[in-house]
Parts: sequence; C-alpha cells; structure tokens
Amino acid sequence: MAIKIEKRSWAEPYRMKMVELLKMTTKAQREKALKEAGYNTFLLHAEDVYIDLLTDSGTNAMSDRQWSAFMTGDEAYAGSKSYYLMEKAIQQFYGYKYVVPTHQGRGAENLLSQIMIKKGDYVPGNMYFTTTRLHQELAGGTFVDVICDEAHDAQSEFPFKGNVDISKLDALVKKHGAKKIPYICVATNVNMAGGQPISIKNLKELREYTNKHGIKIVHDMTRVAENAFFIQQREEGYKNTSIKDIVKEICSLTDAATMSAKKDALVNIGGFMATNDWDVFEEARNLVVVYEGLHTYGGLAGRDMEAIAVGIKESVSDHHQKARVGQVEYLGKRMEEFGIPLVKPFGGHGIFVDAKAFLPHLTQDQYPAQTLAAEIYADSGVRTMERGIISAGRKANGENYYPKLELVRFTIPRRVYTQAHMDVVAESAAMVYDRRKKIKGLKMVYEPKYLRFFQARFEKLK
Ligand code: F0G
Repeated sequence: MAIKIEKRSWAEPYRMKMVELLKMTTKAQREKALKEAGYNTFLLHAEDVYIDLLTDSGTNAMSDRQWSAFMTGDEAYAGSKSYYLMEKAIQQFYGYKYVVPTHQGRGAENLLSQIMIKKGDYVPGNMYFTTTRLHQELAGGTFVDVICDEAHDAQSEFPFKGNVDISKLDALVKKHGAKKIPYICVATNVNMAGGQPISIKNLKELREYTNKHGIKIVHDMTRVAENAFFIQQREEGYKNTSIKDIVKEICSLTDAATMSAKKDALVNIGGFMATNDWDVFEEARNLVVVYEGLHTYGGLAGRDMEAIAVGIKESVSDHHQKARVGQVEYLGKRMEEFGIPLVKPFGGHGIFVDAKAFLPHLTQDQYPAQTLAAEIYADSGVRTMERGIISAGRKANGENYYPKLELVRFTIPRRVYTQAHMDVVAESAAMVYDRRKKIKGLKMVYEPKYLRFFQARFEKLK
C-alpha cells in the first residue's frame, strides 16, 4: 500500500546540547505557592514553575554561537569593540543609522519619550504597551489608541490586526493639529492584541500620511521578525521574499526605533534605541549617560552586545521563524481542539485565551484573566500571564481602564520547550476549561502605583 502523508512535518533547525533540569511539584505545593504569591503569577518563585510561559522576554535559549560570542565580549568602559559589532548588525539587518544601547526596551522608551515628547502632546499608537505608554505619560504625553477595530475583537480573524486605522489618526490630527503629535508609535506584531502583525501595505499608507503632516514614525521593533514571518505567509506579493528583506523593508518605512532585544534578538538582556536623525541621536547619546551608562554600553556588558549581534542575525532566518511561530501555532491548534476560546489568528509569540469567554460568569472586576492564570498554575505548574484589566491599569484621573480584551497569555520562549511540553500545556488548559463553571473570581488586596500587574496581590472570592 502506498504511504500518503497529507502534510509533511517540520522540526526545529537545532538540537540540544545541554538541558536544564526542572523541579516537579504536587498540586498541594502549587496551591500553597499560589496563595503565598497573592494569586499573582509574577510573584511565584520560578523554581516552583514547571513550564514557564509567563513571557518570551529574556527567556530565550541562546545558541552555541551566541555563547561563544560571549567569550569574545570586550568589557572596555568606553569604545568597546562589542558595541561597534552590535551597531554594525543593527545597521546591516535593520538599516537604522545611529544606535544607542540600553539595558532593555523600556530604557530606550525612556530616552525616546523624553527627547521627542513635550508636555501636552498626543502620542498615537497601534494599541498600548504597558511600559511604552507609561514612559509617554511620564514625559507629559497622552497616548491615543489608533489600531484598527478588529484588534479589539478576540474573535475577528482579520489577518493584520496590528494595522493602524488611518482615519482614527486623521481624526486626532484634525482635533489637535499635527504639531501636537511628535510621532506615532508603531509596534510590529502587536503584543497586547495577541501578537498580531501590521501589513507593509498599511505601513506604506501610514508613511505617506505622516510625511504629508510632518509626523515621525517610531517603530517598537521588539518582535519585528515575527511580524515579517506573517507578512511572508499572508501578504500579497511577499511569498518569495525572505524574512531578512521584509524586516529591512519594515524598518525603512520608519524614522526611529526602540527595541527590547530580549525577544526577537534571542538574548536574555539588552535593548537599544535607533534613529536616522542625527539630532535625536545626539540627545539620546547624551541622555543615556544619566540613566543607563556610557553611549557605547548603555547598561550592557560587552558580552551582551556580542550576543545581540549574533542573535539579530539568527532571528531573521526563515528556518528559525518557521519553527518559532510554528510551535506557537501547534499549541493553538491543540487548545482549539478542546474548544478553548482563543484570540485568532494565532499570534507570533504566544496563544492568548479569551478569559471573558472562558469564564463568562465573572465580571471584569472579578479579574477573569488573573483568575484563569492562577487556576492553570494550580492545575499543572504551567505559568501564564494576565493581559486584561489589571495590566491596563488606571488613567491619569485614577479611573480604571476597562479594556475590551481580557486575555491570558501563554507566551512561548524561543528555542526552549518541546512539542511534548506544548501537549502538557494544552491538556492543562483543557482540564481547567472542563470545570470552568465552578471557578470563582479574585479580589485585589494590594495595588502598586505603577504597572500594577507586576506586584498586585489578590485573594480568592468565596
Ligand atoms: N514593547 C513591547 C511590545 C514589549 O512587549 C515589551 C516587553 C517592551 C516594549 C519593553 O521591553 O521588557 O525589554 O523593557 N514586553 C515583555 C512582555 C515584558 O512580557 O511582553 P523590556
């Protein structure tokens, strides 16, 4: 009999050379740990976690090439050769002219916000990100969401939910005038929308619009290569273009960038600000010494900059991204088989569960996403993260934001877990889904002032 295979399997373009042993826990141990952590997965001890899907940030496995680059790091205080190597990689793969290293993405956001935003300015963006918006606000700006409506609809299957709705931007320009809008922040693969891409077509339209009005485009390029993968898969005319070329094209449509190298660039720490504008660079190069360190290290060790240079190159490989995003899709499909309500299409860095649909009997003030993240940890030791009302925080006037999306993020670190781990995760979510009607919500008993999701504490509702 002839063998027929509908679709041939793919596998990762690497193999393991070293493994990290994990602690296995019992349900009773996990329930105790959870209570001690105030039902906030950020406050668990990582040691008590079996499969850690809290974030894809700084949790990547570095390659043998990155580790060997570590050994060649130049730890000079000033003018380290590792800085020039990283600068060269950024210029070569992203195309920005000037580079200022920072300890991570938010360090770059701080510099850029202070330099470009004046008090009373408006800063539009394709959805907010927690630290990005806070830095804009601390610099005196007001964030305005101009992402397309589909992004706020967990069920919409629109392929480019990261797109900017240019009519929303235009309304803002008409209301306040372009002079009050120093730049629009465009994130590639929008994190809070579920890891959703922006299309080149939309970026080109935005470029045309902003050129006409004298507004800059600042690129939050944290997950640009994952966005490029989706463009290659979904956008007309890009099927045969390499991720490397798509990444370069995306960057060429923008004026400056902030980067958390802890994601796409496959390292455990690091970031940078980049710009094509000499004056902005001059100021950033000066300001960085106040917050991060000299402009040739910006809070990083030489070895970190070496690893970033190698990681950037590895991140734009077509084979790497196929396996990376392919693993996320695999988890999504497994969860979908169990009927779990998910944000669609599946994102680039994780699977986002629609907690409002999962726990429809809870109000948003009973924190459905926070509750669900806690329940999943108790079930299996899988750690996930709330991306809903707690993450959204409060407005300047103290009122809560009530985001439409109330999500639990199952974020997959790059090159870390196997397909079998993904099976365990999907089955755990399924077991919690099976008893969802019995699940009660949480109440917040401690709320920090800034970015409350990191340290807030909760108790179970009776
Ligand atoms: N922008 C985006 C889109 C991000 O996802 C992050 C971090 C940052 C900026 C800030 O970068 O952490 O290096 O200072 N996201 C992490 C996450 C924390 O888990 O999504 P950072």
